[in-house]
Order: sequence, then structure tokens, then C-alpha cells
Amino acid sequence: MSMQHDCKCKDKLINFNNMKTFCYAKNQIISSEQAAIHPLDVGLIRGYAIFDFIRIEDFQPLYLAGYLARFISSAEKLNLPLNYDQDELQNIIYALIAKNELQQGGIRMIFSGGVSDNHFSPAGGSLFIFCEELTMPSPEKYELGVRLLSEEYIRPLASIKTTNYTLPVWLSRKWKEMEVEDVLYHHGGIISESSRSNIFMVKDGIISTPKLNILYGITRKNVIALAGQVQEREISFTEILNADEVFMTSTTKRILPVTQIDGTLIRNGRPGEATQELMEKFWQLEQRERSSFKQEN
Ligand SMILES: Cc1ncc(COP(=O)(O)O)c(C=O)c1O
Repeated sequence: MSMQHDCKCKDKLINFNNMKTFCYAKNQIISSEQAAIHPLDVGLIRGYAIFDFIRIEDFQPLYLAGYLARFISSAEKLNLPLNYDQDELQNIIYALIAKNELQQGGIRMIFSGGVSDNHFSPAGGSLFIFCEELTMPSPEKYELGVRLLSEEYIRPLASIKTTNYTLPVWLSRKWKEMEVEDVLYHHGGIISESSRSNIFMVKDGIISTPKLNILYGITRKNVIALAGQVQEREISFTEILNADEVFMTSTTKRILPVTQIDGTLIRNGRPGEATQELMEKFWQLEQRERSSFKQEN
């Protein structure tokens, strides 16, 4: 009897559509279809790996320095020997944008734990950098706001951008069925973040955002700088339910109003004025970032 498994899945066409033709893998720019990871990489068998995601507009990576610094710091914090400095990563990113003619989209950088003798300790891992298409949320979501579902959880090693998204990927089936956008993590009555976004609330004109047990988002940092005064502090679950306004921030969402949590309307269930004002300011900041590239060139 043949030991070969007659697998029907080999006939299945993998949709590479949102992944651009060229990527960085095996220490060089190669065809994305040739990128591969060893099955015993601790990134795969133990979920020990880091990543980051950068948005591209007009062929330029927005706020690149912040993302590269976070990626390098994530590797350091996980004791992963990333032998690339900020300039080298930047050069690869620019080369990939040019080679893929990526006018708008995203760059995904992944650094895995590597293959080690005991299949547990991190070793020198593999660096992958992919160019992807990116669809931002629909205009309707920005206009009407989105709904969140609470979940008792804190991300392990929350300040590090690890690839561990097991819980939200598993939960996503439930939230899609319930037509909610995402989750809101809380623990012991204190909120932290959403699965891929930071959270802000506005009460009596004061903007606040959780201080601990979060990934320190690049968008969060930009929003804090734009808003001027933001309280970074402990926020209770009850407090956010009673907020005047709530919004979430991330690279792939910018600022998205949240109008319902667990079926409870945030005030009147419509995006509030402070949120809309910040959305506008954030958009202007992005335009300034984009025009700064044009002036350089
Ligand atoms: C857990 C988590 N929190 C917050 C964010 C938002 O971070 P950023 O604004 O840098 O995209 C992300 C982004 O992926 C995330 O995964």
C-alpha cells in the first residue's frame, strides 16, 4: 500500500490574490510563492514569532520609523536574534514597494522563532516581508460606527507584537455570526484593547485610553499626539459602557467609532463629535505625512 496520502487539498487553489508577486524571504527578494517556513519552526509549533504591519499610500510607508522600531523591539523582548537594523529593513521595504509597484496596500513583516534542537527554545528565525492588498473599513462603518463584544482576556506579553491571535481567530466565527466588528478585552472589570486595535473613550470632553496590558499602537500614539490631552489610565468596563463616545484605532482602521458594546448603546448609539473631530484631524495628519514624501522627492 502506498504511504502517500492522496490529498484532495493539493488540487485546491490557494488564493494568493491579496499577496503581491515578490516578497523578502530566504534573505533575498523572491517570488512570494516560493516563501516557506520549516514545519518545526517554533513560530509554528509553539506560536513564538513576531510581526508588524505598515500601511502604504502613494508608494510610501506611513510612519515607517515607528513600525520598524517596534518590530526591532518586539524581537529584542522575545530574545529573537534579528540581524537586521532599521536601515536594512527600510531598504528591503522600499525595494519591495518598487518591485511590486505597490501604490496602496500593506507591508507585513514576520520574524519566526526558528528551528531549534529541542523544538522549544528560540533560535535564529526566518524573516519574511510581504506586500499585500489592503481594504479599509467601508464608509458606512465610519459613518454609523461598529459594535463590539466583550471578552474576558488579556493578551499574553501584551506590549509585544507577537503572532499569537489564537483566541480572536477562534472567536471571530462567533462575532461574524453576531454581526459585530470585533471584541473588547477586559479582565477583573478593567478593559485593555480590542483584538487588533486600541480603545479610547470620551466622557465630559475628556479623552482616555487604557494604559496597561495593551499593544502600544502607532495609531494610538498619533491620536494621543493629535488630541493634545489624553488620560492614559485604568478604565473599568462599567465606565466605558457609560462613556459619551468610544472609538478604536489601528493601522488598518485609522479611527473607527464604536457605538455599541454587548448590545448596550454608547450614549445615543451614534458617532460623537469629539470622535468625528479626531477622525478629521487624523485624516489631515495623514495628508501631511503623504505630502512630506512628495516634497522629499
Ligand atoms: C492587539 C493589538 N492592539 C492594538 C493594535 C493597533 O496597533 P497599530 O495602531 O500600531 O496598528 C493592534 C494592531 O494590530 C493589535 O494587534
